[in-house]
Amino acid sequence: MEIGSILEFDDKELYMDNPQKGIDDFTLPFMNGEKYNINFYQNARNATEALCLYLKSQISSVILPDYVCSTVSDSINRAGIDVIRYHLNKDFQFDIEEINQLMKDYSEADKKTVLYIVHYFGKALDSSLVALAKEWMSKGYTVFEDITMSIFSKDDGNFGFGNYIIGSLRKWLPIPDGGFIASKNLLPEVPEFEDISRYCYYSYLAQEMKRDYIRGGETDNVLKEDYMRHYKKSIDYLFSDYTIYPVSGITEKYLSNYSCENIIARRKANYKYFYEKLADIDFVKPLIPVSDNYLPFGMIVTTNNRDELLSFLVSKDVYCNVHWRLDYEGLGEEAKLLSSSIMTIPCDQRYGTKDFDRIVEVLKEYKSGK
Ligand SMILES: Cc1ncc(COP(=O)(O)O)c(C=O)c1O
Repeated sequence: MEIGSILEFDDKELYMDNPQKGIDDFTLPFMNGEKYNINFYQNARNATEALCLYLKSQISSVILPDYVCSTVSDSINRAGIDVIRYHLNKDFQFDIEEINQLMKDYSEADKKTVLYIVHYFGKALDSSLVALAKEWMSKGYTVFEDITMSIFSKDDGNFGFGNYIIGSLRKWLPIPDGGFIASKNLLPEVPEFEDISRYCYYSYLAQEMKRDYIRGGETDNVLKEDYMRHYKKSIDYLFSDYTIYPVSGITEKYLSNYSCENIIARRKANYKYFYEKLADIDFVKPLIPVSDNYLPFGMIVTTNNRDELLSFLVSKDVYCNVHWRLDYEGLGEEAKLLSSSIMTIPCDQRYGTKDFDRIVEVLKEYKSGK
């Protein structure tokens, strides 16, 4: 059975009419039932750009970690704002002095520098970074907190404390699009569009087709090729049309009906099971510990010969991702090393113990062929 790649649709949440709930009731665990202003966009890159444009008169630069998806710096730059990098150290730690110095160098006079913090894959933030961010906030500076890779985590005071919380929903849920900004502050107006974007259209079709492929017992190879073709088209549009779109009606409907408890419970159980199984495999090293509060994005591991292993897994119908392939001037040594050895093995709500047993068998087979 195929493991990984795009999340096929769940029907019930897409088509159900639920008069009790609407998208205004959308909540994430870190919100603790408190009221936030939330804007929904097609994706997190739209959310980041829209936020930067909205705050443009108050922002001149954003201090961003060197280890983060390039879509983040691209969206800040598209809003006409400079990106300054701070560097990742081992084990997702940072040099606090470096960040402190950059914040001072770039903005002591006008407080126009934003500190951008990334929650990595469901790992608790370095406590000294949280303390630093809060110190800068108390001096009147702005903190953007990116929870894209940890949206279902919760840790009072250490998660969701920033002035603006940014996240991508489309990576976690069976929806064609979806990203957001949440804040206790006012937010910009979201633009209105009559139609969904081409990205969303192809993404929607690909997810429908994938569902049919899976339900049909994964025997229809033409359908598989078709869904992959549609998926590729969606990605081509995602990386070429930078219009800021509101979230689609399809996703809005899903978000109005879904509840995250089952998804979280399933992902937690899966992560723990898979993490323990991987203790038998000496050549992949999970980076994110099992925790009560933090929910990992997937099984984030490092390994030697990463790309060879990725290809082997594809040949066995296991589709992994790399978060992230980075190569630009100014990328630090630790970020370079991580980028060349990291991979994400799927461990989401679609799967169960049999799937993880299979992945472990495939990993053993890879090793035995060496
Ligand atoms: C940390 C982080 N933030 C933001 C984004 C952008 O999310 P989206 O793809 O929904 O635009 C990504 C994309 O991978 C990401 O990894």
